[in-house]
Amino acid sequence: MEQQEVKKVIFSGIQPSGDLTIGNYLGALKNWVKLQGEYDCYYCIVDLHAITVKQIPKDLRRRTFEVLAIYIAAGIDPEKNTLFIQSHVPAHSELAWNLNCNTYMGELSRMTQYKDKSKRYGNNIAAGLFNYPALMAADILLYQADLVPVGADQKQHLELTRDLAERFNNAYSPTFKIPEPYIPKAGAKIMDLQDPTKKMSKSSDNPNSYILIMDTPDVIRKKISRAVTDSIGIVKYSDEQLGVKNLMTILNVITGKTFDEIEKYYQGKGYAEFKKDVGDAIINELEPIQKKVKELLDDKKSLEEIYKKGAEKANYVANKTLRKVQKKIGFIPIK
Ligand code: TYM
Repeated sequence: MEQQEVKKVIFSGIQPSGDLTIGNYLGALKNWVKLQGEYDCYYCIVDLHAITVKQIPKDLRRRTFEVLAIYIAAGIDPEKNTLFIQSHVPAHSELAWNLNCNTYMGELSRMTQYKDKSKRYGNNIAAGLFNYPALMAADILLYQADLVPVGADQKQHLELTRDLAERFNNAYSPTFKIPEPYIPKAGAKIMDLQDPTKKMSKSSDNPNSYILIMDTPDVIRKKISRAVTDSIGIVKYSDEQLGVKNLMTILNVITGKTFDEIEKYYQGKGYAEFKKDVGDAIINELEPIQKKVKELLDDKKSLEEIYKKGAEKANYVANKTLRKVQKKIGFIPIK
């Protein structure tokens, strides 16, 4: 009898907390597309995470649909992967509570993303923003994920996830798979176009600092032409030239051209031509995706079917893990 191959599991997600940027695309989504097929993939729209900061309900709804459409338009096949919305699977919130009770305040307060975001929100920091890494751990552990493809900024959360899984396994008995992060060599940290010492972020107040997946060609060209560079005037991959280095990274991840090739090609040419080519590369990459996103958003019914089917599968798998956890910690199941 032929043995059925059991594929390893991937889990990852993006928050619908702002319009997605090319950072989300190059650091995460593009790799999700590459990894599908080889793995059993769960790609989630993490709306529970989005409400750790204030959201306008109608924008949250619009973005949740748009993120799903972007996943598909970027090349993720909804027939072969499980695409779903986090709030459709209550086990995420339930396991997060359990994990929160086994996570130390010290661990959570060391999270750099929390430290950064709490600076931004001053005195109005929601408790959810502090607890959020336990929810992220729950997301991953519910599916017994082997691999989690993310950008570099999520590495610390992944380390905490591994610690929490090991802590639970040691306290009770082996329950959770210990997941590995998958962080791409290039593109793991696309930087802010106006301040290349910071990562590009969808929550930035300055639209010139990021390029959105849905930005029009004109806007993309303008934003790239305004991107901060330097007065050196040479296209070189160097820490002395963070703005240029970032644009080279974008070009490298999109076109596959090596840094050496890029340096050689632009020898003796100015930044204007280089920036024009970076802009064109981004536009070429995004245009077909944008077109597909618009088509998908015009057919909400199909998107609804996709997330409904995704939720069924995700609920089934997640509940299996949750029941195990509940039994081990001493909760009484309904007979
Ligand atoms: P989020 O929504 O901030 O970002 C989604 C993904 O995009 C990556 N990313 C970047 N990569 C490169 N350069 C950038 N400038 C850049 N900005 C964002 C992020 O690393 C991420 O992979 N907590 C997560 C969402 C999440 C999650 C999960 C991820 C919730 N549960 C479970 C993996 C597994 C977040 O806020 O990502």
